[in-house]
Amino acid sequence: MTETAAGARACPVVDYVLAPPPTPALSLFQRMDGHQAIGRPAVRTDEAGGYWIFTDQSVILDGLQRPDLWSNSVIVPTESDPPYRWIPIMLDPPEHTKWRHLLGSYFSPGRTKAMKADQHRLAAELIEGLRGRGECDFVRDFAQVFPSIIFLEIMGMPREKLDEFMQWEHMILHENNDSDPDGSVRLGGMQAVQTYFAGLVAERRANPDPRAQDVVSAAISWEIDGEPVTDADVLNCLLLLFMAGLDTVAGQSSYALLHLATNPADRARIVAEPELVPHAVEELLRAYPIVQTARKATRDAQFHGCPIKKGDMATFPLSAAGRDDEAYPEAKRVDFDREMVRHLSFGGGPHRCLGSHLARQELVVLLQEWHRLIPDYELVQVPLEHGGGVWGLESLPLRWES
Ligand code: HEM
Repeated sequence: MTETAAGARACPVVDYVLAPPPTPALSLFQRMDGHQAIGRPAVRTDEAGGYWIFTDQSVILDGLQRPDLWSNSVIVPTESDPPYRWIPIMLDPPEHTKWRHLLGSYFSPGRTKAMKADQHRLAAELIEGLRGRGECDFVRDFAQVFPSIIFLEIMGMPREKLDEFMQWEHMILHENNDSDPDGSVRLGGMQAVQTYFAGLVAERRANPDPRAQDVVSAAISWEIDGEPVTDADVLNCLLLLFMAGLDTVAGQSSYALLHLATNPADRARIVAEPELVPHAVEELLRAYPIVQTARKATRDAQFHGCPIKKGDMATFPLSAAGRDDEAYPEAKRVDFDREMVRHLSFGGGPHRCLGSHLARQELVVLLQEWHRLIPDYELVQVPLEHGGGVWGLESLPLRWES
């Protein structure tokens, strides 16, 4: 028996799979709460040859801050040797650091703030379009539309193709072990996105617009260390931005609305005190972390008592970090009066979310505008949620008096 297998024996083994078929909303969070209750700082699963699942907030943070031990060459725990390289998320320092410098300005606090008034106008316009109906599927009709329109503009991609983009996004991020057992749908989605971007990049090269501010227009002349970035790397980066930008705010805002639809006292406070929304957003991010990331060990090491072997796979689920009672009193309870908390829902260490300023602002704007225009609403039925690396609701049927 290898040493890891011996260490694994000492560690509780749980029935965890990364991408189960859709389950009733919040059951993935409850399942992770259960794993945390039986094993600290880690449990293990036998899925895909076995991997560690870290359950302690402080250990998860430490792992994310140690790229020397925990490499980003993988970020999906079931794929130890992935046939793709998403940039910058799958790079380690020092290469990663150069890409962060290159990309930083597109999602900076200043650039984000300059978009705020337009975002309020857009959110209000979209919600006004729904208000008279008295019902909607929040996910399809709003959560997937509002942040996507903003993101497509930043990228320089056509809004008319949003449905097709969402289909590709679904193929890459929402399939599960039953619907895509060999991962071919997922790879097909990535291929479709890259083929699309290759065409768009070629078009921008043929007709460059020196005044254009969007990411794709800038990407055609990206340089690192004074050398042009290769076409393959440009496409790998645009693919990652596509995945990060199109699905995350949709997922996070759907959990926020699910919480507010089913907790009328919290909703009443948001309606009565719109200035509370930025703080409420942080608390909702803490309590419902949607990103469950992963790493691969670069060497043998003892990591918080776990005997790690080079090549071991591990997931660092932010859902366990945000709901850890040892880090936050009564962590499973959403409490808008909680003192300002530092959560890990945007990650930690070198790969901390590049789009966090944008995501935060979008969440604040959409909660403020929604509750200004539709303050009272209810859940029609408990929806399903999907697992994977980014959790989200499949739908969120809401109704209100119109
Ligand atoms: C509520 C919404 C969002 C959440 C919860 C979120 C969460 C995260 C997390 C946890 C990571 C780190 C993953 C890891 O360490 O493996 C990350 C990375 C990243 N996020 Fe976000 N994200 C959100 C929205 C966005 C948006 C709107 C963008 C815009 C494009 C974005 C762009 C990125 C990028 C580029 C990275 C990789 C950074 C790097 O590798 O250095 N994210 N995000």
